Amino acid sequence: MGTTSTDCWSIFAPLLANAICCPQLEATLAILMGQSSIDTRTLALNETVSKHCLSDIEKILAGQGAANNVNKICSIRPSNLTEGSCPVKDVNEFEGTVDSSKLLSACENIDPVKECCDQVCQNAILETATKLALKASEVLIIAGSHGITEHSTKVDDCKHIALRWLAGKLEPSRAKEVLRGLSNCKVNRVCPLVFPDMRHVAKGCGNDISNKTECCSAMENYVSHLQKQSLITNLQALDCATTLGMKLQRSNITKDVYSLCHITLKDFSLQVAKQESGCLLPSLPSDATFDHSSGISFICDLNDNIPAHWPSKSQLSAPCNKTIKIPALPAAANAQIGLYNEDVIFYVLFAASAVTMMLLQSFV
Ligand SMILES: *[C@@H]1O[C@H](CO)[C@@H](O)[C@H](O)[C@H]1NC(C)=O
Ligand SMILES: *[C@@H]1O[C@H](CO)[C@@H](O)[C@H](O)[C@H]1NC(C)=O
Ligand SMILES: *[C@@H]1O[C@H](CO)[C@@H](O)[C@H](O)[C@H]1NC(C)=O
Ligand SMILES: *[C@@H]1O[C@H](CO)[C@@H](O)[C@H](O)[C@H]1NC(C)=O
Ligand SMILES: *[C@@H]1O[C@H](CO)[C@@H](O)[C@H](O)[C@H]1NC(C)=O
Repeated sequence: MGTTSTDCWSIFAPLLANAICCPQLEATLAILMGQSSIDTRTLALNETVSKHCLSDIEKILAGQGAANNVNKICSIRPSNLTEGSCPVKDVNEFEGTVDSSKLLSACENIDPVKECCDQVCQNAILETATKLALKASEVLIIAGSHGITEHSTKVDDCKHIALRWLAGKLEPSRAKEVLRGLSNCKVNRVCPLVFPDMRHVAKGCGNDISNKTECCSAMENYVSHLQKQSLITNLQALDCATTLGMKLQRSNITKDVYSLCHITLKDFSLQVAKQESGCLLPSLPSDATFDHSSGISFICDLNDNIPAHWPSKSQLSAPCNKTIKIPALPAAANAQIGLYNEDVIFYVLFAASAVTMMLLQSFV
């Protein structure tokens, strides 16, 4: 709970929501349910109890410094702690239905980098969830497309049951590592940024980029809107560069405007105000930490200036075959410190290797 409170620290919660805060909150909920299932023998709460639990948890977290609306920030509702449409919630029934030792051995130790491509644990969870989902009615297999939608919702709900079961079988700290590792694979697969209308870029870079200055200034202006949204990981930045590149190509901008305008991955990240330097989280973001003298800190990388890659079709289908190599974790020398105090809320990044200090932004 302490780690979650820090990861979801008041003003940082929205900025860290996608990559750190919400994955950690979801892991915590699964662990609380998994651990309580050791006594209750059930992997789900009813809606009434769920409502009370969520409200209590939110208050406890807020008492430790978290934003007071984390459930809203992370879209967690009472229904998320129920069994949903999964037909199995009882621990004994679960263990009697699936190959639970296989699930445990596939998931008790995951390599968070390899897992995202090999999907050893993710496949075991899918297999488990599918078995659970089919328990109620084999009829669904032969049902039409409506049945398939229903079936996939069931499988998704059963995945949550499987994760809670797993969280009950592992030490909480181990469970956290596993659950965060799994959610991280999901996080890194999607660009969380919202792309505003690109009419101006299309115009500035139109006519086969007749005017480079105009085109690049339109691009810069465009990416500046992306830079105010959220802290993202380096792999998400790759996804974002690909997504934007595809959108630009659909607007008939076929030339590589990234290289023309020197757009780097860091241009997609939250910017440090003065020096215009991005701050990308590592692909396995570490938890935020708190200490009384330096405030909230988390690691982000200021040093790699990886050019954004203009997408081609071949790149899209191979998410695990990225030609641009990015280290899972930035070098230890790149530790950064985010400072927080009550009067002026600011955030200082310190890049040890570059020995630069930068003021990110004042939210006040
Ligand atoms: C919900 O669960 C609690 C505790 O297991 C139980 O006391 C309560 O009657 C249940 N409520 C409903 C509506 O089923
Ligand atoms: C909670 O459940 C809703 C559907 O009831 C779903 O849309 C949402 O993604 C779930 N939230 C999480 C964090 O799983
Ligand atoms: C390119 O656009 C800029 C800004 O709109 C303008 O100042 C400049 O004259 C243009 N250059 C050419 C060659 O048209
Ligand atoms: C792209 O160019 C084609 C052919 O010149 C044109 O038909 C289409 O409307 C253009 N699309 C956009 C989004 O400008
Ligand atoms: C992975 O990348 C290499 C080198 O770019 C390429 O030769 C290979 O075909 C790719 N594999 C897949 C499955 O896309």
